[in-house]
Amino acid sequence: MSHKQGDHICPPWVGVLSLLNPLRNVLYTPKSVLRPYVKEGMTVIEPGPGMGFFTLDAARMVGPNGKVIALDIQESMLRALRRRAERAGLASRLELKAVEPNDLGIRGKKAADFFLAFAMVHEVSDPLRFFEQACESLKTGGKLLLAEPRGHVSEESFERQLGLAVAAGFKVQSRPAIRWSWAALLEKSARETRALGKTGGAKRSGARGNASQKRS
Ligand SMILES: C[S@@+](CC[C@H](N)C(=O)[O-])C[C@H]1O[C@@H](n2cnc3c(N)ncnc32)[C@H](O)[C@@H]1O
Repeated sequence: MSHKQGDHICPPWVGVLSLLNPLRNVLYTPKSVLRPYVKEGMTVIEPGPGMGFFTLDAARMVGPNGKVIALDIQESMLRALRRRAERAGLASRLELKAVEPNDLGIRGKKAADFFLAFAMVHEVSDPLRFFEQACESLKTGGKLLLAEPRGHVSEESFERQLGLAVAAGFKVQSRPAIRWSWAALLEKSARETRALGKTGGAKRSGARGNASQKRS
């Protein structure tokens, strides 16, 4: 079933039955997805972690000197993730925060090396604002892996998301192959970052308007 941008939030029971379903590992594993990008000592931001399919392995990969900042609008997802992290002995590498739908609370931090947005941007009502915040949270040259499930998101909607990411200050570096997913690796572009600093995003209001007109 295809969802319109921002019209649906994944309920916790889907987290248990689907997102943490062991069969998901047949399509891809957290390590196979993250290995090219996540290294020891990194700071990783993961909005919409759900119950943490990727989060625990990301915490293992950044090691004791790195951290994973997991931000979700649903407290129930974060509670389940916290329990799983404690059981795995990884809680000290995680910062878990409940956030508002269009405010990740990370603007201007420029501290992260890697940003993972997996199967969650289609749930965000203002994706341009989301990508602007992501861009501001990353160091220059920092990477964002965007992936969306083909079952929920049309190719057209994914391309629209990519257009908004570029308007927010990213450039598309590659299109990694992740089964059953649309995916792109984005890099924070130094040129666009300077523009963002001056305008605070106002220049891109056209892109936001365009996106809402074209909702699928
Ligand atoms: C389909 S789940 C994906 C979970 C995880 N990324 C995975 O692949 O297993 C989407 C998650 O994004 C969260 N979410 C939705 N909108 C959000 C927003 N604006 N900011 C942060 N999290 C959000 C939901 O609460 C849910 O936990």
